Amino acid sequence: MAFLLLLVMLTACAASPRDLSGKMFTFPEETNTANVRLTTSRQDFSAATVCLRSITDLSRNHVIFSLAMPSASNALLIFKAGERDVIEVHVRNKKVDFGAKDYKLNVWHSVCSTWDSASGLVQLWYDGKPSIRKFIGGSNITRPIVILGQEQDSFGGGFDTRQSFVGMMSDVHMWDYTLSPCEIQRYVDDLNFTPGNVLNWRALEFQSTGRVLIEDKQLTCH
Ligand SMILES: *[C@@H]1O[C@H](CO)[C@@H](O)[C@H](O)[C@H]1NC(C)=O
Repeated sequence: MAFLLLLVMLTACAASPRDLSGKMFTFPEETNTANVRLTTSRQDFSAATVCLRSITDLSRNHVIFSLAMPSASNALLIFKAGERDVIEVHVRNKKVDFGAKDYKLNVWHSVCSTWDSASGLVQLWYDGKPSIRKFIGGSNITRPIVILGQEQDSFGGGFDTRQSFVGMMSDVHMWDYTLSPCEIQRYVDDLNFTPGNVLNWRALEFQSTGRVLIEDKQLTCH
């Protein structure tokens, strides 16, 4: 009886969300397999905000955030273009470039992106600095698969080593509405902010594959 209870508890633990406050995912090698798949119960949204922090030394193309839906593998994609100092945001397979971001390597950066289908506008906030607002269009995003560490060229797969992410990532949140500039500032400054209702770093449901570690965030000593 006690054994059964333990078994049930263990199973429940594996499925239940985890609080990753103060933690980060470490992607320590270049592969086309290592990834973290994030699970959400939200299946249909007409607007979105994604925020996360990351650090890398990659100067080639690499994925920052990959959300696919059955009919569009780049349903909501944040992507660093290799040679150009440009961060791309894709919505339902359409792309806009945000230029002059001063993407420094080996430095933690915060990236937030907002989009809503009503206006069709997308905006990028890089280290708290807002871009101009650009038109991308789009309609509802449904049945999302969210993956960190790899870029989806098909729904839930189609990974490419040359677009993979190597480095560390933390504080991943996603909302099904656009955050106000003040709310984004609160996220950037790590103050009290409303955690994501689609993805919440403090209650994250995920499954990792391959060599991905969950480690304490390394804070610099003063
Ligand atoms: C789009 O998503 C919103 C929010 O979930 C929902 O209320 C609306 O019915 C959806 N629109 C379509 C066309 O499915």
